[in-house]
Amino acid sequence: MQNIQPLRDFDPFNPLIEGLDLSKTDVEIGILIFDIEHRDMLDKLYHLYDGVVGGRSERDVLQSLRKLLMASKQHFDHEEDYMKNLNYGDLQKHTEDHQTLLSSLEHFVVALFSKNGSNPRDLDEVRSFFIAWHTDHILEHDRMLANFLTQKGIR
Ligand SMILES: [Fe+2]
Ligand SMILES: [Fe+2]
Repeated sequence: MQNIQPLRDFDPFNPLIEGLDLSKTDVEIGILIFDIEHRDMLDKLYHLYDGVVGGRSERDVLQSLRKLLMASKQHFDHEEDYMKNLNYGDLQKHTEDHQTLLSSLEHFVVALFSKNGSNPRDLDEVRSFFIAWHTDHILEHDRMLANFLTQKGIR
C-alpha cells in the first residue's frame, strides 16, 4: 500500500505553500482511496511548480500540466461516482466546484500554448489553483463528503 505523506512534511520554504496554514490544509480527508489520489495530485502540482520555477521548457511544463489535469479529472469523476451512487445531497455544488477547478487548469493550458517560456504569471496560476483546490475545495467540499462517507461506513 502506498504510504501517504502529509503536506507538512514538505519543505516549508517552498513558495507554493508559503503563508498557508498547513495544519488546516492537509490533503488527507480520512477516506483512503481519496487520500491517495489527493497525494498524487499534490505530487503532480509540485512537479508543475518545479517546472515553472526551474524555467523548464514550455513543452515540459505543458506535459506536467496535462498530467495534473488528467489526474484531477479522474479523481473528480471518482468522487462524483461515489456521490451519485450514494445520492449525496450536495452533488451539484460539489460537481460545479470540480468544473471550476478543471476550467482554470484548461485555461492555463491554453495560456501556456499562446506564449513562449514561463514567466511570473505562470507561478501565480499554479499558486491560485493550489489554493482553490487544496485550501478551498478540500476543506469545504471534500471534508463534507468525507463526513458523509464515514457515516456510511466507508473509510
Ligand atoms: Fe472534490
Ligand atoms: Fe478531492
